[in-house]
Amino acid sequence: METVKVNLGKRSYEIVIGNDLLPRAGEFIRKKSHLNHSSAVILTVPPVRRLLEQKVKNSFDKAGITTFFIEVPDTEKSKSLTQYSKILNQLTRISKGGNSFFMVTLGGGVVGDLGGFAAATFKRGIPYIHIPTTLLAQVDSAIGGKTGIDLSNAKNMVGAIWQPSAVLSDVSVLQSLPGREFISGLGEVIKYGVIADEKLFRFMEQCQPREIQTDIAALAYLVTTCSRCKAKFVEEDERDQSGKRSLLNFGHTIGHAIESASGYSNLYKHGEAISIGMVCATRISLALGLTHEEFLSRLISLLEKTGLPVRLTSKVPVKRMLKNYLFDKKFSNSRTRFVLPVKIGRVVLQERVPEQVVEEAVKACRS
Ligand SMILES: NC(=O)c1ccc[n+]([C@@H]2O[C@H](COP(=O)([O-])OP(=O)(O)OC[C@H]3O[C@@H](n4cnc5c(N)ncnc54)[C@H](O)[C@@H]3O)[C@@H](O)[C@H]2O)c1
Ligand SMILES: [Zn+2]
Repeated sequence: METVKVNLGKRSYEIVIGNDLLPRAGEFIRKKSHLNHSSAVILTVPPVRRLLEQKVKNSFDKAGITTFFIEVPDTEKSKSLTQYSKILNQLTRISKGGNSFFMVTLGGGVVGDLGGFAAATFKRGIPYIHIPTTLLAQVDSAIGGKTGIDLSNAKNMVGAIWQPSAVLSDVSVLQSLPGREFISGLGEVIKYGVIADEKLFRFMEQCQPREIQTDIAALAYLVTTCSRCKAKFVEEDERDQSGKRSLLNFGHTIGHAIESASGYSNLYKHGEAISIGMVCATRISLALGLTHEEFLSRLISLLEKTGLPVRLTSKVPVKRMLKNYLFDKKFSNSRTRFVLPVKIGRVVLQERVPEQVVEEAVKACRS
């Protein structure tokens, strides 16, 4: 078992990473977060509830914590004002019953962002614990306190930074993750390798991606390494003000444009969109003379070997993507700012990248 501390003064917390942690979740919460409430409200989605409810409930019972489960539909569309308001109404009902409770998010990034936002705003903020159950959530979304929901066509438009009291990452739950979801999470892992950790990048080059999902030691290594890396960026720039935390967005400017232009459909999972986004950003870096051809080929080989896409299908309307999202004048300041790789383990934040350079890089990524 590994513990990674996120040092944020009074808002500090621990991330506990290990194998088969869920049967001891209640005990860990009591020890690690010092929460002494009598109840926990657990937000989840039906497939995760079917898999994990009994384990979580038993362990909370043992720690003397009564559980109330709230379910939302299993889709990105649950990060909505409608589901958010339903959750607040349910919390109000539970609270009127005289229960003192904290919240728990049990699931992937959708449940984590939505539940974290409900916790941030209910009664002006209540404590919560993340129990992330996807690779993407364990290596990324459960750390750093960014919570929020989407508006009809604007992802993560409403939110708050509200840190959890603890994060419990049980790597054994990743075994049941559908292969495509697991590989999508590996997209974020490779991102950490590029921005800050050459050793992690080499590990990914040397391993067999399809074998990692059942290799508990390898999973624990990946989740611990990425958690440490994210914690460091968050500690240095919790509220995304100095530009340090923005470096975590390598591949995300174009990645988000791809997700938006494809209507947040199933065409690309988040990690798949940022895989193409990382390739485009590297092409931009190459055009600006910041990196070398050799780095681009190494990145493409690794992404392909991992099973991630490196080219845009013709189903994504590139013109709409460029016009509506990347070059939207309303957002032009932030949109033309890119995180660009220099070499493995080092990226820079580049302001005012010329539109033509971006356009050519995106077009070069079409299949
Ligand atoms: N807050 C942040 O800092 C941050 C960072 C990155 C991404 N995000 C957000 O995260 C969301 C994406 O998260 P995600 O990729 O985890 O998607 P997700 O939450 O939709 O989960 C993906 C799928 O995996 C299933 N699943 C979850 N755990 C499982 C398990 N153990 N076994 C079997 N199936 C399981 C879910 O039912 C779901 O169908 C996006 O909304 C994105 O905006 C937030
Ligand atoms: Zn991401």
